[in-house]
Amino acid sequence: MEGWYERRLFNPLMDLALGQPKFQRLREQLLATVHDAPLEIGPGTGLNLPHYPARVRSMRVLAREAELDRRLLERAARRDLAVAHLRGDAARIPLPDASVDALVCTFVLCSVRAPRECLREFARVLRSGGHLYLLEHVRSPRRIELAVQRALTPLQRVVACGCELDRDLCADVESSSFDTRGLMCANSSALPFPASEVLAGIALRR
Ligand SMILES: C[S@@+](CC[C@H](N)C(=O)[O-])C[C@H]1O[C@@H](n2cnc3c(N)ncnc32)[C@H](O)[C@@H]1O
Repeated sequence: MEGWYERRLFNPLMDLALGQPKFQRLREQLLATVHDAPLEIGPGTGLNLPHYPARVRSMRVLAREAELDRRLLERAARRDLAVAHLRGDAARIPLPDASVDALVCTFVLCSVRAPRECLREFARVLRSGGHLYLLEHVRSPRRIELAVQRALTPLQRVVACGCELDRDLCADVESSSFDTRGLMCANSSALPFPASEVLAGIALRR
């Protein structure tokens, strides 16, 4: 049932919601400097694919599903991008240590079971100096907004496949083994409240 809900209802809705022009601009800004064949975690319907620079001709995607979403495959075909599917979980990436140059993770850490565990896994597979491209909605630093996020999170978790609005991902990434000087946590007019507080940018594997 959960798989059916995600495939048939959540993914099409997410494709509409996260595919709006404001989100697309954020994706484009984030991915502008991707050079090497990246590894993208939890690509969903492939909304990032049109925003990789033209020099990116191939990539790997890590997804839990046995089959990649039809929209992702269509987006890959439209820009002639070779996509290799790695089946797995963000907390256990089936790749050797230090084997990845660039890892992309957008709107995924809000719904994984343990974000810190995933960040440790990202650090494990990235080589030293490798780039982690992050775009996530996070906990608001403002008291009343956080109270609203906390109140809505139990419902959000159910309707949005585990997504939590009040995760302190900025603190999680600060305490990880990444140089976070290229990241910012800020309120973004591009995203609607209660998901308007954003963590975005490029962290470096130390
Ligand atoms: C809100 S969607 C975002 C999709 C896409 N990254 C984007 O930016 O449009 C969250 C995605 O994370 C994936 N996901 C959630 N938990 C995961 C995990 N533990 N490992 C891998 N992918 C996961 C889901 O399957 C879903 O595709």
